[in-house]
Amino acid sequence: MIYTITLNPALDRTLWVSEIKEDVSNRIIREESYPGGKGIDVSKVLTALGVPNRALGFIAGFAGRQLEAQLTRDGTDCSFIPVSGETRTNVVIHELGSGRQIILNSAGPEVKPFELLEISDLVRKIEEPEFVSIGGSLPPRAHPEVYRKIIETAKLRRAKVVLDVDREALLVGIRGKPDVIKPNIHELSALVGKRLEKRGEILEAAREINRRGVGIVLVSMGPRGILLVSEGKAYQAVPPEVEVVNTIGAGDSSVAGFIYGLVAGRDLKEALIWATAAGTATTLRQGTALATREDVERIVPQVRLETISED
Ligand SMILES: Nc1ncnc2c1ncn2[C@@H]1O[C@H](COP(=O)(O)OP(=O)(O)OP(=O)(O)O)[C@@H](O)[C@H]1O
Ligand SMILES: [Mg+2]
Repeated sequence: MIYTITLNPALDRTLWVSEIKEDVSNRIIREESYPGGKGIDVSKVLTALGVPNRALGFIAGFAGRQLEAQLTRDGTDCSFIPVSGETRTNVVIHELGSGRQIILNSAGPEVKPFELLEISDLVRKIEEPEFVSIGGSLPPRAHPEVYRKIIETAKLRRAKVVLDVDREALLVGIRGKPDVIKPNIHELSALVGKRLEKRGEILEAAREINRRGVGIVLVSMGPRGILLVSEGKAYQAVPPEVEVVNTIGAGDSSVAGFIYGLVAGRDLKEALIWATAAGTATTLRQGTALATREDVERIVPQVRLETISED
């Protein structure tokens, strides 16, 4: 089974208005709410690709129940731990007249230290974990060591662990030696404390992370695709040029595409191609909508793979 972990999930609420005027009541033309958060995005794309998976994490209040109900309705199994407070709602307002997008992000509920421990207890008990994919921000005031503990617990269960987090959480998390991380260039650059511009510099930084015990480093580079660096092997997969609608969730979709490839028994190169195609497929969708299976399958043969080294 594949498990995803989102410690601070969100309900992403999108509102469409024709124009925002101050001090009057503005009419909402359309509104939608979807479950969000990086691990949950991975679950949604895995489900779209036909891979059974289960979403874990913390939910709270009415928004949390709604998030769980929608995920379940759309085909993703859930085992969330309920906590007090209210799951955050992130709001995106589309102003149709101007094309402006206003994004309001909330911090989410605090999760108490003893509740944070419950997630490792849950990981200790999950059945036959093949992959555990961890993503997104921490609840307010939670210490990044939580990620390291989850990773170590999942590895004791012999799961392959994928970590997609940033800043302090990434720095501390990799001490737990996840099998795969998927930083973008800014995240990798912050991790090694160097500016990374040329491909050679990015490769060297990724190799440094390999030496710190992370088997596979996937560096996503937007339209330039993804670099995979693992010991002596290095490949770059480059997506076709597409008309990008919205890149929200592209990186999370790449994580799902990579897991999909490996679960389907493909080699690293093919999994990398699927990762790249899944990210690009998400850029074709509006707002927070993610890749469809149809788009991913159509893009896969259009991804170009370059072998940089293979010893
Ligand atoms: N402009 C684009 N054109 C084509 N493909 C793209 C574009 N932007 C992103 N992608 C695809 O999505 C993948 C992941 O995107 P990106 O590198 O932006 O991830 P990220 O910064 O982690 O994104 P996220 O906001 O989801 O965290 C890329 O490697 C690429 O395959
Ligand atoms: Mg990302």
